[in-house]
Amino acid sequence: MIIAIDGPAAAGKGTLARRLAQHLGYDFLDTGSLYRGVGLQVLRAGGDPADPKAAKAAAERLDLKLLADPDLRDEAAANAASLVAAQPAVRAALLDFQRNFARKPPGGRGAVLDGRDVGTVVCPEAEVKLFITASSEARALRRLRELQEAGQAAIWDAVLQDMRDRDARDSRRDVAPLKPAADAVVIDTTSLSPDQVFEAALAIVDAKR
Ligand code: CDP
Repeated sequence: MIIAIDGPAAAGKGTLARRLAQHLGYDFLDTGSLYRGVGLQVLRAGGDPADPKAAKAAAERLDLKLLADPDLRDEAAANAASLVAAQPAVRAALLDFQRNFARKPPGGRGAVLDGRDVGTVVCPEAEVKLFITASSEARALRRLRELQEAGQAAIWDAVLQDMRDRDARDSRRDVAPLKPAADAVVIDTTSLSPDQVFEAALAIVDAKR
């Protein structure tokens, strides 16, 4: 079984996806980390993530060590990710890896993937598609707390603005824009706890198993 979880930044996709994978004994892939890795690789080489040549070269030769780099989670990597992610050549270079993982997960039981286009482009055949969303204020507050917990200085206005800019870029791009698949179940987590989101998602998965 493939479970596709899409949605905007800091909506709770990653938390939910990890928990579902652990509960079901499935493998988990955070597809955003691939785009973050490409963005970070371009930044480290002194390049511009909006430059198609630099972004394509990084995507075709992604250094997998970067996926464990502490800088992968910071806002510079997030913004670079969203710039490289708008480019068709970058998305094409990362597609096979994601599809292979979903169809032949290492543990052989099932896969949970989270991102922006898992249900629409990467795995349109996924048995379960969830679109996890929340108000931009709720999401910015979660991201602010994450950054503060990681010991980074973070300013509310800047976090909210960055998130709105990134959502707008992810939703308006021509290639694989952020949007729910026609057959996705939308869960708004604005006033739900992580436990409530997990229970709601598990009920949907169980109904399909
Ligand atoms: O953790 P957060 O939700 O903030 O972001 P992420 O999932 O790590 O994704 C970072 C960026 O990568 C997004 O803003 C998208 O531009 C891009 N991305 C994408 O285009 N397609 C995906 N399947 C996953 C991420």
